[in-house]
Amino acid sequence: MAIIEVENLRKDFKIAKRETGFLGALKSVVNRQFITKEAVQGISFSIEKGEMVGYIGPNGAGKSTTIKMLTGILVPSSGKVTVNGLVPYEDRKKNAKNIGVVFGQRTQLWWDLPTIESFELLKDIYGVSDTRYQENMDTFTEILGLNEFLNTPVRQLSLGQRMRADIAASLLHDPEILFLDEPTIGLDVVAKEKMRDFIQEINKQRQVTVILTTHDMEDIEKLCKRMVLIDHGQKVYDGNIDTVKAKYGKTRTLVVDVEQNGKELTLQGGSLIKEEGNRKWISFNRTEISASELINQITKTHNISDLTVEEPEIESIISRIYQEGFSNTEEPIQV
Ligand SMILES: Nc1ncnc2c1ncn2[C@@H]1O[C@H](COP(=O)(O)OP(=O)(O)OP(=O)(O)O)[C@@H](O)[C@H]1O
Ligand SMILES: [Mg+2]
Repeated sequence: MAIIEVENLRKDFKIAKRETGFLGALKSVVNRQFITKEAVQGISFSIEKGEMVGYIGPNGAGKSTTIKMLTGILVPSSGKVTVNGLVPYEDRKKNAKNIGVVFGQRTQLWWDLPTIESFELLKDIYGVSDTRYQENMDTFTEILGLNEFLNTPVRQLSLGQRMRADIAASLLHDPEILFLDEPTIGLDVVAKEKMRDFIQEINKQRQVTVILTTHDMEDIEKLCKRMVLIDHGQKVYDGNIDTVKAKYGKTRTLVVDVEQNGKELTLQGGSLIKEEGNRKWISFNRTEISASELINQITKTHNISDLTVEEPEIESIISRIYQEGFSNTEEPIQV
């Protein structure tokens, strides 16, 4: 059985309708009206032990709501969810022992206490043995460099430090599953990279199953083989990232530096999308024309001093899928 099973999961939020102005406010109190927000609209997926899955979607798609149902914070409106054989909202305490959670936007640590004291509290809450606690603290301190701020109150930590403390805290009790909701949000490039290395290490060394939501496609590209893409509460795609890349990644960009000679650049099968000084960006569909054919065309009229061919970023592919939806009719191209 898969470690996480989600079947036709739904979550509706009932939101009180507010009217403006004093009379409106009075009316809202006397005659309260509600509107329903269907945040998650029948999502199904299953995740195997040890997998690392990217849970992706635009703002408001329903990612955090799903994670909250998987962690037992929210009760689903309907549908089934099991995490390690437990129904999270029915067995919240037992489920908490199996999972680690990081919400990048919010800390789970005690704001006013020195960081180390939060760790010690979590040790007691989860009943972690002294030896295991020490082993884990040693490992995390070494990889995440916790030493520099263990005695600093959480409220005084920088964002990067706080995030490192949060992920260490989520793993102190050796959970089998780790939910990461935007674990790299707001971090600088170096800190992001360190966080990714750490997540990868934990997944590899400890076989921890990871579900990761993020808006940073580099996180996904570096960490996940599989992504579940959701939009407006519905699943749009579930599968291999390489398949998506192959299917949508037919567009390439040829970047050339050409000497200006007054002649116009004529291109057949490619289109000029950007120009900066001598540098030109030419977009083409690699199933219709090759880069070398395009280069041949250009050299007939211009000298090329430098060139590169760029592959599309997963980011631009995803934004296309958001806009156009994922079509299943087209055959994927082998890369
Ligand atoms: N407690 C709540 N009460 C009412 N509506 C809510 C609540 N939580 C979420 N929503 C609504 O449900 C929808 C999904 O929200 P959710 O936080 O799951 O999105 P998300 O995919 O995590 O987005 P983001 O990328 O911005 O974090 C949104 O329209 C949001 O306004
Ligand atoms: Mg969210």
